[in-house]
Parts: sequence; C-alpha cells; structure tokens
Amino acid sequence: MILLTGGAGYIGSHVCIALLDAGFDVAVVDNLCNSNKASLERVQSICGRSPVFRHADIRDEAAIYDILQACGVTAVIHLAGLKAVGESNVRPMAYYENNVQGTMRLVSAMKRAGVKTLVFSSSATVYGVPAYLPLDEKHPLGPTNPYGRTKFFIEEMLKDLYKSDDDWRIGILRYFNPAGAHESGFIGEDPLGVPNNLLPLVSQVAAGRREKLLVYGSDYDTPDGTGIRDFIHVVDLASGHLSALCHLAQPGLLTANLGTGNGNSVLEVVRTFEAVSGKAIPYEIGQRREGDVAICYADPTFAKQALGWSSARSLEQMCADHWRWQLRNPDGYRGILLPNVRET
Ligand code: NAD
Ligand code: WQD
Repeated sequence: MILLTGGAGYIGSHVCIALLDAGFDVAVVDNLCNSNKASLERVQSICGRSPVFRHADIRDEAAIYDILQACGVTAVIHLAGLKAVGESNVRPMAYYENNVQGTMRLVSAMKRAGVKTLVFSSSATVYGVPAYLPLDEKHPLGPTNPYGRTKFFIEEMLKDLYKSDDDWRIGILRYFNPAGAHESGFIGEDPLGVPNNLLPLVSQVAAGRREKLLVYGSDYDTPDGTGIRDFIHVVDLASGHLSALCHLAQPGLLTANLGTGNGNSVLEVVRTFEAVSGKAIPYEIGQRREGDVAICYADPTFAKQALGWSSARSLEQMCADHWRWQLRNPDGYRGILLPNVRET
C-alpha cells in the first residue's frame, strides 16, 4: 500500500491514477484545504477502483502513524503542502508550519512505523534565479520566496535524515511547470478563486470567464520578449513518481528534475491554446511580475539516466487536455461532469 499525501489535489489525483493503473493499492491523506474529495470519485470512474481516503492533516502525527499501521503502508509519496508563491510572502509562517513542520511530523510517524521509503514533491523554484541554462540538479540553490525556501529546507532536512540512517530510500523530485489534465477530462486543476498559474488563467479567458490575460512583461531577453517556462504535462509528471518509486527499491537518496527540457514563451502558450480550442484569447501586455525570471527550463538528462523516465506529451496536448477539462467542468469539481462535446 502506498500512502499519497495531498492525493486529492491537482497533481496528487493524477499520481493516484498512475499508481492504481500500475496495480498498487493507494491510501490518500488530505485535509482538503485546497481540494475536493470529488477528485477521488472521478479517479474511481477512470480506474475502476478507488484509493482508501482519510481526511487528516499531515501535521497530526498520531493520525498519520495510525494510517501507516492500519493500511500496511510500505512507501509514502508526499505531495501535501501549500503552494502559492504570492501567499507565502504574506503568510510565511503558515507555509513553514504546513510544509516544513508537516513534513517533520510525517517523517517522524514514518520512522515510528518503520516506513522508510519517501518520494517528495519539490520544485524548480529551489534553483532561484538561473545562473545558467538548462537547469541541472547541480545548479546552486537559492529560492527567492518563502514557499521556495520551505521546499529547500525540506530537501536539506531529508538529506540530513539520509546521512543519519542510510536505510532510507528518498526521492526528491523537482517539478518544473505542471500543466494539462487527464485526457478523459474527468480530473484536472480546480483552483479556488483566482488561479495563480498561466494555463488555468489562459483557459478561463478562452472559456469567457475572464475578459483577457495580462501578460507579465514583453521586454525580457527572449525571442518574443515574454517569459519562457518548461511546461510539463501532469500525466507525464505523475508517471515520474512511479519511476522514482521503482528506483527506490534500493536504499539511496536521489534528486531529479521532472521537466521536458523545452522552453515555451507565454505568447507561444497563448497561440497554442487558441489553436487547440478554436477560441480567441485576448491579452494585454503589462508590467513584469516581481520575482519572475526571464527563462527557466530543465535539463532532464539525469531523470532519464537514473529513472528511465522522460516526458512524452507536447504543449499542444497539454493545452488540448486542459481545455477538455475546462469544457467538461466549467465549475470544476463543484459542478456536474458534462459530456465530452467531441464524443456527442
Ligand atoms: P494542490 O493544492 O492541488 O494539492 C496539494 C494537496 O495537499 C491539496 O489537496 C491540499 O488539500 C493538501 N494539503 C495541503 N496541506 C495539507 C496538510 N497539512 N495535510 C493534508 N493535506 C494537505 O497542489 P498541487 O499543484 O497538486 O501540488 C502538489 C505538490 O506539488 C505540492 O507540494 C506543491 O508544492 C508541489 N509543486 C506544485 C507545482 C505546481 O505548479 N502545481 C510545482 C512544483 C511543485
Ligand atoms: C508562468 C509564466 C509568468 C500569469 C510558479 C511557481 C513555481 C511553481 C510553478 C510550485 C511566467 C507568466 C503568468 C499571468 C503571465 N510552483 N504569466 N500572466 O511563475 O513559472 O512558477 O508555478 O512549485 O514555484 O513560482 O508559473 O504559471 O505563474 O507563470 O504572463 O497572468 O507565465 O510571468 O512567465 P511560474 P506561472
């Protein structure tokens, strides 16, 4: 049994499918602070079986210990956490408490239960401002906001844990920019309030829920002047967790980028989304957003060598899958699932 923390969330629900499809039994722990349990009902419709669900907080060490014991958990994939960069500047202690303290409690429960295999969701944000590109795992770390620092501190903590006891099997996965949705259109990202990330915003403009996209700067040193990012399909990202888990059959600590190795600009994303949706996406060029870098993309070589993993899906597919999710679920998980228009 694999324990998935944050398994009701955007990435977690896709990892849940990857695990169930691969034949694993899954227990999900989530406090639903940024998700809806309906995601797991949708997972069941896709996979034909469901994970065990426990509504609990990772900071509740006793509850986590009970779940580890009761479910016979052998490994943990840890995605639970707060993830909004802007909010982390305003509420830093909530981020340290939730992410850092939460991981400490989780690890403590795991130690007590004798579960020593852990895959952790880190982020490319730990690199900070790129000193060179593409970003490989040896690039110096220097996160520039409290959210990023929580990921950095957790990484350091896990490295110390491994140094103190090399029976641990730890996989640190640094995600670049997750995007897209499951191809069924059943599960996807369901941001509460105003989305933080580019794809959900573009998609809401295409759907007419927002008037236009504000492009944060067109004066960067990039071919079209807008920022460049490494967008990775969430289904590819999910399969990376499976590869990491298989790799951790041996003790060790591994840190790997999960990215495509390609960069796409904000305007390329807008044009691709327009092409796959057939909708116009009005935009306006605004000021640069504080804290943004011009270009960020991964060197995914190590993940390929060490895990045998690489991404397979294109930007077109990310946009098409995101759009299908948007069309079928105009109100996210709070509404009903509409039929796939392409099938009717
Ligand atoms: P998400 O908010 O959709 O999922 C996180 C889940 O964790 C949610 O279901 C939330 O309810 C749950 N959660 C939060 N705090 C909890 C706690 N204390 N106890 C139990 N459950 C808790 O976010 P996501 O995009 O799926 O991100 C998953 C992980 O990946 C996060 O750790 C995030 O930092 C990391 N990550 C995300 C991105 C991204 O752009 N989406 C990029 C890099 C890394
Ligand atoms: C992408 C590009 C923006 C919105 C963030 C976190 C990072 C990681 C992934 C968790 C940039 C531009 C965006 C808009 C725009 N999350 N943009 N108008 O900033 O690369 O990374 O999510 O770990 O930590 O920082 O992603 O989707 O916000 O932005 O022009 O309304 O889109 O300037 O160039 P980012 P993003």
